[in-house]
Amino acid sequence: MRSTSALAVVILTLATPAVAAPLSALDPAGRDATVIAALFWWMAVVSAVVWVAALALLFYCVRAGTGTWRRPRADRLIFWAGLVVPTVLLTAWLVRALPHVGGVVDTPPAAGAFRVHVTGEQWWWRVRYEGPDGVVESANEVRLPLGRTTHVVLDSDNVIHAFWVPSLAGKIDMIPGRTTYLTLEPTRAGTFRGVCAEYCGTSHARMTFDVVVLAPDDFERWLIAEAGPARAPETALGRAGAAAFADSGCGGCHTVRGTPAAGVIGPDLTHVGARRGDASVLPHANDDLEVWLRQPDLVKPGALMPPFAALGAPRLQALVSYLRELR
Ligand code: CUA
Repeated sequence: MRSTSALAVVILTLATPAVAAPLSALDPAGRDATVIAALFWWMAVVSAVVWVAALALLFYCVRAGTGTWRRPRADRLIFWAGLVVPTVLLTAWLVRALPHVGGVVDTPPAAGAFRVHVTGEQWWWRVRYEGPDGVVESANEVRLPLGRTTHVVLDSDNVIHAFWVPSLAGKIDMIPGRTTYLTLEPTRAGTFRGVCAEYCGTSHARMTFDVVVLAPDDFERWLIAEAGPARAPETALGRAGAAAFADSGCGGCHTVRGTPAAGVIGPDLTHVGARRGDASVLPHANDDLEVWLRQPDLVKPGALMPPFAALGAPRLQALVSYLRELR
């Protein structure tokens, strides 16, 4: 009975990530992820066969008792099952996996290739696109054109982070003082989740981002819009928020293109209202954003964003309205 339950747990554990999910390596939506998923299933099936065979042999040995087999026959079994079969299996695995290693460890892209730069910050993601008219900066969300090869150029100026979008490709470290590369080739449109896969400090687990894969035309349109300056707020509350943003010195850390705010310490907020989330961890919801502005430590302990509780609720609500209107 206990072994049946254990088997059920193993099967469930294996089957659960296979369910379509935005953060599953077994629901591939990219070229490398497809290779990795195929490799995983191949290894899982062969391992399962070996596991069942080993258990069957163990069961047989326990039941058979001593003296059943004479020495030469037992030696032959050890030679074949203990030496030949593992050697053949492990060699087959190696041969099956080796051709993909070169594709996963990437080198600098050729000139003219489409590049997106991602920098690991404490604890968020700085994202810079090479647009037709220069660099376009964003944060905590990566947009990619479907079916096109994107070379992601990765670095960090603080500690080691790791860039991982399980649905699209393998993971790769972002190392201070070094540049690493990852090639992404999405094969399915949709929104996928990315995480930091290297422990980097208190809010490591809250260092997440979304990857939005768009049809190539939609992507081009989006990139042109993203390169544009911020829209002026249209509501009275939004205008009050813009004034609070300027008076409180937010522009010392954040850039809002088209306004005097030109700070580079924190995320570029030019189109923050059009992003899927806030602060790399919050879903868009006004209450959450107000908590973030009032006391960032409650949302993301250790973040460099200072608390603005002193502004008071009316001005914080105005700020939230302003940020939402930055589309
Ligand atoms: Cu960044 Cu973990």
